[in-house]
Amino acid sequence: MIVNEHIEGFVDSMIPDLPEDLKQLEEWALYNKVPIIRKSMQQFLKVILLEKKPSSILEIGTAVGFSTLFLERFSSKDTKITTIEKVEMRLVHARKNLAGHERIRLMEGDASDLLTQLASDHTYEYDLIFLDAAKGQYPDFLVPIRKLLSKGGILITDNVLLEGSIAESKFTIERRDRTIHKRMREYLFELTHSEDFETVILPVGDGAAVSYKKG
Ligand SMILES: C[S@@+](CC[C@H](N)C(=O)[O-])C[C@H]1O[C@@H](n2cnc3c(N)ncnc32)[C@H](O)[C@@H]1O
Repeated sequence: MIVNEHIEGFVDSMIPDLPEDLKQLEEWALYNKVPIIRKSMQQFLKVILLEKKPSSILEIGTAVGFSTLFLERFSSKDTKITTIEKVEMRLVHARKNLAGHERIRLMEGDASDLLTQLASDHTYEYDLIFLDAAKGQYPDFLVPIRKLLSKGGILITDNVLLEGSIAESKFTIERRDRTIHKRMREYLFELTHSEDFETVILPVGDGAAVSYKKG
């Protein structure tokens, strides 16, 4: 948690209730310890969707499909959504939850391979990319993402503040977490210093980087 519990509770109390089906899936996911986007990230995505009106969305990290269905619900009726997940125990539920949703394409496999595949195809471009997967891989994903994001497109990266530890010196980070710490700092440095992006890092959820692609 980035913001103190008291403030996060207040902010969350201002967020309207989810539609019943999403509410039930959210409850199921939380009960079964599936990590899904927090309330503040949900509301943030909703506002971005209304403002940006993306015609195509790419999500990396489907889990059981909660955020995918959320993106579908609050985007335009003709918005197409591609979502990537690799873990079978998540896919079992994602396949079921996303079945019959014609605007959603579930790609099964490792995002490292699938993103490279999509980028080399040159036929795919996305107005909005939502990155919510393995944090240590974010710098590698950025290479194909740069190609896949349309000019003027928005990349939202979740969990970038690593529960606040991103701000700590590497010497105070447990040895096992140092690689992720280093890689996330590199990722954020690239997003904030690259000529291709204008980026703001926000304490929404577990920290979100919002990047606008300039060229
Ligand atoms: C935080 S969860 C996603 C939650 C989901 N976006 C939601 O809010 O409902 C991250 C997911 O990314 C998946 N993931 C992590 N690394 C991946 C990779 N390299 N390729 C595909 N999926 C990956 C994990 O299996 C996990 O289900």
